[in-house]
Amino acid sequence: MEKIKDALAKAKIENTESKSQFKAETKASSTLLQSGVVSQKEIKSFPNTENELGMINYLNTPVIKLDSAHLEKNRIVAQSKSDVNSYSFDSLRTQILQKMEENNWRTIAVVSPTPQSGKTLVSINLAISIAQQPQKTAILVDFDLRRPKVAAYLGIHTEKSMNDYLQDKAQLKDVMINPGIDRLVIVPTMKPVSKSAETLSSKKVTSLIADLRERYNSRIVIFDCPPVLNSDDAMVLLPQVDCVLLVIANGMSTQSEIEETLHHLPKENLLGIVLNKAEIESKAYYY
Ligand SMILES: Nc1ncnc2c1ncn2[C@@H]1O[C@H](COP(=O)(O)OP(=O)(O)O)[C@@H](O)[C@H]1O
Ligand SMILES: [Mg+2]
Repeated sequence: MEKIKDALAKAKIENTESKSQFKAETKASSTLLQSGVVSQKEIKSFPNTENELGMINYLNTPVIKLDSAHLEKNRIVAQSKSDVNSYSFDSLRTQILQKMEENNWRTIAVVSPTPQSGKTLVSINLAISIAQQPQKTAILVDFDLRRPKVAAYLGIHTEKSMNDYLQDKAQLKDVMINPGIDRLVIVPTMKPVSKSAETLSSKKVTSLIADLRERYNSRIVIFDCPPVLNSDDAMVLLPQVDCVLLVIANGMSTQSEIEETLHHLPKENLLGIVLNKAEIESKAYYY
């Protein structure tokens, strides 16, 4: 934990010193984001709330009901109001939506320095939490093309997915799924994609990102991304999105990895930092 704090301090983006940051910490054995760190301010209103919200129709979008036991096992908690951890994601959502609203941001890349930091977990829980706001819709796109996990964590199996879309074998509408949660759409990637950096910088993906952003003002688009330091993939995506949420897991990245990541990220578009697995001090995880 100290190492993360040191790295953040060194990079001069410590939460308390910057109004533009928030910090959320997750506890050791669960996805719990520490309450008290994220403030509980309520969102008062959203300009540009659109008619489309009430009219989003899933007639052409297959509904795949999620299995609650599978979700729980995979630490997907935001949909469960009886799970105290869901409040933490609601707080995170509130902070994020306020900042996005202020800046007219609608697309978020969720990144981390290295793998296994909790990006996918945070992306899914955040998307569910945002969709629970009646004024917003959320779409979660699995853009970790090397290690796609969204479908597995949600327990979704589909015939058509991002893989087919990228190969021109399906249209976007054919690869969207409603997971039985109102105002939430998932675009899963079922298999790793070769030449992922080239794919993510292709015209097809660039126009997909723009299209997802522009279609509805009320829609928040969350891209579950690859880690920043392991490939070019995240660096290719970052200029294409409005803002970045950085997930740092205690013990999963070294201090220098965190610092290097922060140098790569555009500070003005840094939505915030989630400190995950904050109370684990397991030296075994350090590289
Ligand atoms: N706060 C947490 N507490 C316990 N386990 C966690 C936490 N966050 C993530 N994990 C676990 O760590 C692993 C990596 O999480 P994942 O979201 O797949 O990371 P990434 O997408 O960054 O590679 C998963 O097994 C996940 O269940
Ligand atoms: Mg992941």
